[in-house]
Amino acid sequence: MNIATATRALLDELVRMRTEGTERIYIDEKTIRDLELLLNSNAASTDSGNESSDVSRERTAKDSLGSEIKQKKDITITDHPSTIVKPSKEVESKLPSPPILDIPKGNKSEQWKWLEDKVLNCETCNSELNPNGKIVFGQGNLNADLFLCGEAPGADEEIEGMPFIGPAGELLIKILNAMGLEREKVYLGNILNWRPRHNQSYGNRPPTKEEINFCLPYLKAQLKIVQPKIIVALGKTATDGLLGHDPKRRLSHVRGKWYEFSGAPMMITYHPSYLLHNPSKTSKRRVWEDFLLVMEKLEMEISEKQRGFFL
Ligand code: URA
Repeated sequence: MNIATATRALLDELVRMRTEGTERIYIDEKTIRDLELLLNSNAASTDSGNESSDVSRERTAKDSLGSEIKQKKDITITDHPSTIVKPSKEVESKLPSPPILDIPKGNKSEQWKWLEDKVLNCETCNSELNPNGKIVFGQGNLNADLFLCGEAPGADEEIEGMPFIGPAGELLIKILNAMGLEREKVYLGNILNWRPRHNQSYGNRPPTKEEINFCLPYLKAQLKIVQPKIIVALGKTATDGLLGHDPKRRLSHVRGKWYEFSGAPMMITYHPSYLLHNPSKTSKRRVWEDFLLVMEKLEMEISEKQRGFFL
């Protein structure tokens, strides 16, 4: 097995564990040394001669994984792409109490504008941004039947200031298209309004409980304004944010079932990033079955072809 395949297998396993609810794993010194030896021996064997682009890609992955492992013994797992980043002491901050929001009277559009203004001018949200990052507020149809809630903006989103425009977002839109919906028909929100800062050169860090609690009133206010018929919680962070953190909760147990949030039925499913890492037919089918339930609840027409996707 080459180093890229082995790294991919390791990453997939970490993502699977995260999806199952594992939040921390311990790596002992010997394992770290063994991994370093493995990475070093691979470097030695590829040092001579011309490297194919595959090998040089492998080396890039290996180099970053190697330095990452040197820095960490305690790894936080998230279902986002290339994300094995734990909040370090430097990025852990003390946030003020969550905002108290009193939505003014008015139509949905006026209320949403008021809220957007609050979020864009939120001192805490702005102080948590990466140097070139923007706040990412929810976006979409204010009369949407369907409100999809993600975790937090990623690298692409914080640059554009728009939710779900990176690879996970593209996949989410493909799922919506398969349901017969367009991006413009739904509302896309996130638990967090900013991309959580961390001190690694790549990857995403899952939001802390404190960050989730701080931003929750903003998400709840968006739900209050949109009043969707159905909420879909994408992944563990969205689920924990909306239902409250429960260390015993396993996404594999709660997905595909109906819950309730703010009086609206809520479906839990895997985050599209999970599918990017686990593109097996089984994972795709599971997510698709969750969305079939959503379609049924929304009384959307479902063709035989749609019913059979990923079978
Ligand atoms: N993942 C999320 O959870 N939200 C985004 O906006 C993008 C990626």
